[in-house]
Amino acid sequence: PTPSLQDRFGRRIDYVRVSVTDRCDLRCSYCRPKDFDGYAEPANWLSFAEISRVVAAFARLGVGRIRLTGGEPLLRRNLVDLVSDIALLPGVHDLSLSTNATQLTRHAHALKEAGLARINISLDSLDRDCITRVYGRDSLGVILAGIMAAKEAGITPIKLNMVAMQGVNDHEIERMAAFCIEHGFILRLIEAMPVGEAGRQTHFLPLDPVRQQLISRFDLMPCASELGGGPARYWQTRDGRSQIGFITPITQHFCATCNRVRLAVDGTLYLCLGQNERFELRPLLRDGASDAELEGAIRSAIELKPHQHEFEQAPEHIVRFMSQTGG
Ligand code: GTP
Ligand code: 5AD
Ligand code: SF4
Repeated sequence: PTPSLQDRFGRRIDYVRVSVTDRCDLRCSYCRPKDFDGYAEPANWLSFAEISRVVAAFARLGVGRIRLTGGEPLLRRNLVDLVSDIALLPGVHDLSLSTNATQLTRHAHALKEAGLARINISLDSLDRDCITRVYGRDSLGVILAGIMAAKEAGITPIKLNMVAMQGVNDHEIERMAAFCIEHGFILRLIEAMPVGEAGRQTHFLPLDPVRQQLISRFDLMPCASELGGGPARYWQTRDGRSQIGFITPITQHFCATCNRVRLAVDGTLYLCLGQNERFELRPLLRDGASDAELEGAIRSAIELKPHQHEFEQAPEHIVRFMSQTGG
């Protein structure tokens, strides 16, 4: 029988998000405070060999989807080497990357060659001043160049992630949708989550009215096909060529079908984005645990996976930032 990992609620876990660094070259307002000083010690960063070993153990347990995240994953030196290693692991059938694209022009081609199947890129606005305000740096030009480099390298699909913020970029949503339809990108609108004090201070925008607005503006219909393994719900244009996804962790959460866990750069396995349950894998890796022991530890960690987030009840209980688990 195909191996599989199941949690206490009968959910099948087949997706691991691997953060390869907690550093980032941007300062997105919803992600991490400006004076953040809680970075992982370099001595505690998992090596590529350690990351691959953990991913291989997950793959033997039936986890076929791997997403590399950060911080900004392309700041980790030689990331392309890790992509090649993971792409070759038996059982891994979907290898993707979530990036801010500032370093993508340089790496897009090599990533594609190394076996990266697809890519998700953060882009909250097409307005230079808005980007400078939200990201803390004038970076729109370099990001757009990175996105186009990924397209030229043949990485597909390219999804653009836009965190919708009331009074910040909500007036730009239609323009972003038109831009994505024109260039063949999949737009995903995301409700801001109150993870860490930066996330809690974000100007939340519920997506239901936005969806209604886009449905009528672009004549959208529900999209039946699965696009990736994540929580987005998709709509498409009548010609079936363009899709727009909605990620609504607050107004319509998707925890009942949650399929994922998160590995941080220091080997902490987080069982839920919106809860504190965790399990430390680094001690096992560094104390000579066998593959069987590693798999056993992963199985017991999955037992700790909570039922769902409790963002509404007690957001201040989440004692970390988005940048530590890459969303
Ligand atoms: P695919 O669907 O496989 O393309 O990826 P994805 O949408 O899961 O990954 P991505 O890194 O692009 O994340 C998009 C947004 O969804 C980010 O804001 C994530 O924080 C959010 N997200 C992804 N997975 C979860 C989850 O399990 N729970 C919650 N609450 N949010 C999630
Ligand atoms: N709420 C929702 N999404 C967030 N992201 C980062 N911080 C938050 C937040 N507080 C998104 C980024 C990136 C994705 C991986 O996570 O926009 O595209
Ligand atoms: Fe899964 Fe937690 Fe995200 Fe809900 S909030 S979908 S349980 S990771």
